[in-house]
This record gives sequence, structure tokens and C-alpha cells, in this order.
Amino acid sequence: MTKSLTHKLLLVNGANLNLLGKREPDIYGHTTLVDIETRLVAYAAEHDIELICIQSNHEGKLIDEIQHYGLLADTSAQVDAMIINPAAFTHTSVALRDALLATQKPFIEVHLSNVHAREAFRHHSYLSDVAVGVICGLGHLGYQMALTYWLNNLYSVNLNN
Ligand code: DQA
Repeated sequence: MTKSLTHKLLLVNGANLNLLGKREPDIYGHTTLVDIETRLVAYAAEHDIELICIQSNHEGKLIDEIQHYGLLADTSAQVDAMIINPAAFTHTSVALRDALLATQKPFIEVHLSNVHAREAFRHHSYLSDVAVGVICGLGHLGYQMALTYWLNNLYSVNLNN
């Protein structure tokens, strides 16, 4: 039987991020989402944290999943915090913002590319002002840094180890 870990984090990836590795690699890199998730899940598990990974191209599906993991009736099964790359929904979705706020779970917003160095429509985020922090432009390492932050700040994992 798989061991159920007490502490849980949620990694959320939005539209088109299932295509990482193939999609505009000059902007988003060559690493696939499966590679990113596999590495992060293993890193979290080393510290007895379960990292639950979801990706969807559908805004409503992301909202359903965020509500689910953030508001489970059994509060001990809820995630403690989230890491989210909402992709294009960053720039459009009040509904995603509202879902994250409804859960009252802290989250870090991650973007692979530096959205501020790109088209003007990518400069605004509906999430940034309610995020604990925003990491952008550091490629897939941005996710790793967000996870490291939660390990350190929620679970007091010593970063020097
Ligand atoms: C992105 C940036 C968004 O503007 C874009 O729509 C994405 C990916 C990033 O990770 O750099 O799909 O969130």
C-alpha cells in the first residue's frame, strides 16, 4: 500500500503546459512537464511531503481541482499551500483568482518565461497581488525554488542539507 503523507502541497499548471518541451522551446525550454513533476515529487517526498500535481487546459477544471484540494471536508487531507503556473489564465481569469482566495491557502505564482519582458498583455496578472511571491523568467528552476520556499517556510526544512 502507498504510504499516505501527512503534509501535502499542490502544483497546478494551466493551459498548454502539457506541451512543455515541444512548445516554443526557445521561450519555455526543453524540459517536459513530466520531467518537472517527477523531480519535484521526488524532492518533496525526500522530506515526507506529498506533492500533488495537476494540469489542465480548461479553466473550470483547474478551479474544480483547486476547490477540491483546498477545501476537502477532512481538513487534514487538504493541501497546506500551492504552487501555480496558470499560464494564459494568469492574464484573464478572475475566476481562478477567486478560487485560490476561497481556499485561503497561500500560493506562489510561477512563470517559466519573464512575462514582463514579453508582450504588454502578459504584464498583468490577476494573481500576483494575492500571491505570497512570484517567480518568473527562471525556467523550470522557478518551480524548484517555489517548492524549496514552502519546504523551508512551512515545514522548517533546512536548506543547507
Ligand atoms: C507562462 C507565461 C504566460 O504568459 C503564457 O501564456 C504561458 C506560460 C510562463 O510560464 O512563462 O502559457 O505562464
